[in-house]
Amino acid sequence: MSTTRRQAFRSLLRFLLASPLLRAQKYLGEADPIMDLANVFDFGRFAKSKLDPVAWDYLDEGGKDEVSLRDNREAFNRIILRPRILTDVHKIDLATNLLGRKLDYPIFICPAGGKNCFYRNGEEEVARAAATSNALMITSGGIEEFLGSGKGPKNWWQYTLGGEVRAKTTLLNFAEKLEDLGCSGICITVDSMLVSHRERSIHNKFVREWCDKEIGRDSQGHLIYKPGDLPWRTDVYPERPFPTPTWDDVRRLRDATQLPVILKGVLTAEDSERSVQAGMSAIIVSNHGGRQLDHVGATIEALPECVQAARGKIPVLVDGGFRRGTDILKALALGATAIGIGRPYLWGLSCFGQRGVSRILELMRIELALDMGMAGVPSISQIDRKLVRFRNGGDGTC
Ligand SMILES: Cc1cc2nc3c(=O)[nH]c(=O)nc-3n(C[C@H](O)[C@H](O)[C@H](O)COP(=O)(O)O)c2cc1C
Repeated sequence: MSTTRRQAFRSLLRFLLASPLLRAQKYLGEADPIMDLANVFDFGRFAKSKLDPVAWDYLDEGGKDEVSLRDNREAFNRIILRPRILTDVHKIDLATNLLGRKLDYPIFICPAGGKNCFYRNGEEEVARAAATSNALMITSGGIEEFLGSGKGPKNWWQYTLGGEVRAKTTLLNFAEKLEDLGCSGICITVDSMLVSHRERSIHNKFVREWCDKEIGRDSQGHLIYKPGDLPWRTDVYPERPFPTPTWDDVRRLRDATQLPVILKGVLTAEDSERSVQAGMSAIIVSNHGGRQLDHVGATIEALPECVQAARGKIPVLVDGGFRRGTDILKALALGATAIGIGRPYLWGLSCFGQRGVSRILELMRIELALDMGMAGVPSISQIDRKLVRFRNGGDGTC
């Protein structure tokens, strides 16, 4: 071969070896279906195709007309990023601080009841994923053994104030138990003293307790009911035998424990200010993923007034509709310290158990890093209010 022909042959070989087609072939050879899902929404579609339709509706639904559920997503489109050019973005740092502890990235796992409807031993699968992904998880309980092993994730305990707060001794026992389990916070959900009408589940004649076992169907695909099963209904007035918790109760809990107390479900400036006055350690701006009171607007819309009212005295977290790195970036720019995800990790769980949850965290983390780089803000501390503007020209507060 003449020199020029040899050179030409070599460059052809180099070209072929560098071809994305060849690389894709190698990659496809690994045939791991999880890698075919390119983003969080792909996981959602895959989860829908895998789950029992009754379980899917329970996961996906919102309260009543699902206006808040839709708002949570749509409101992100009214916020526009204002990228900065020519800043050095060769390294991106997602680390941040929350209540004196380091978070590798500002994404946490929201509490969700009924995980067994989506995957067997769901709470533990999620906890294992959170531990290996070094994510903060707000747990609804049932993983005490795993936490006790010392290998569990950083966690806060989710709690809807109930019997424990009424008596001093039970309250103290409760707080002590959590401290022993290595919890670093108690997260009180304040938006679900009454459970909303979730009408998809009501139409499906869904029984909430199924999630503790599994959704049984007979050979013809009909749901199997047992004596005592109580399907969700719209004709029951939800009166409670005891007064529902008040600010006095959260103050009592605050006094009973060294652990930070965090309120989840704050949506207004007034309640944010009150949370600071009541000695809460942080608040989570949340509408329960649009599953409780409808027509409360998107959480990203409520965030600016809550941040303004907290006046930097306590961290403000937010959840609801976060699916993309850009969503997270917008919330951080509006003053959130971290954002929570609910349905995305439940989709990951439904598809692949622990691996799916880890992959969701990874995808969201990578998207955030990429979007921060493209927006010219290589670290969390460089993200500020100037990074966003509102389409209608307002500043996002009322
Ligand atoms: C199936 C499901 C169950 C949930 N259960 C609870 C719960 O028991 N306690 C709670 O505080 N929030 C619960 N949530 C709300 C989440 O913690 C979180 O606020 C919400 O899912 C965030 O919105 P996203 O799903 O759009 O990410 C649940 C959400 C879902 C989807």
